[in-house]
Amino acid sequence: MRIAPSLMCADLCHLAASMRRLEGCGADLFHIDVMDAHFVPNMPMGLETVRQARSKTNIPFDAHLMVENNDFFVEKLAEIGVQQISVHPESAVHLDRTLALIRQHGILAGVALNPTTPLSALDYALKRMDFVLLMMVNPGFAGQELVPSGIRKIGDCRAYLDRHGLDIPIEVDGNVSLENIPRMVAAGAEILVAGTSSIFRDEGSLEENFRRTRDAIARGLEMNNER
Ligand code: DX5
Ligand code: ZN
Repeated sequence: MRIAPSLMCADLCHLAASMRRLEGCGADLFHIDVMDAHFVPNMPMGLETVRQARSKTNIPFDAHLMVENNDFFVEKLAEIGVQQISVHPESAVHLDRTLALIRQHGILAGVALNPTTPLSALDYALKRMDFVLLMMVNPGFAGQELVPSGIRKIGDCRAYLDRHGLDIPIEVDGNVSLENIPRMVAAGAEILVAGTSSIFRDEGSLEENFRRTRDAIARGLEMNNER
């Protein structure tokens, strides 16, 4: 199980200090939402912010592209030095080429699916993928509610990957809340994007919320064992 704090939810005016604190809490990855205000109507962090942030921490960067021109951002993020990149097939006209490009740079390649995009969108990309990212909300904004079929899709995706003999992790993004985490983990999520509904909640410190997040993960793993 890995916790990936979403940096767009951190204090962006004091990003280096926020990352140090998150590192102290034991963050495994930093989730970086790259938006172009076209594929999604938002743009929280620019490339220069990501570049400067890269030099302030050794924690791997998990970039989530929500853009129209995927290959442009892949090249830029490879120069910056990120460790994984996920791309949406809903925007990638040449998904196979883009996934190959990510791997050519020695970066782990993921496919990110919008809530209603069927798992069959992965059918012909499986050999080029290192992880799947399932959106639990419509991409673009923090602080939204889980879509109704979100948890069911995690279980369906785990079964789909197993059926294809693929032992790659499922990352979940959006309303990965203290309340939802146990069911998400029990359904098969392994990388949790932590935003305003878990570690960046208004109540409690980052450290307290990190502990609560770990407790919620433990409850999910127990649910799994009880089956
Ligand atoms: C979008 C983002 C958001 C956010 C998640 O791709 O990754 O979904 O940071 O945090 P919540 O939904 O908990 O505010
Ligand atoms: Zn994201």
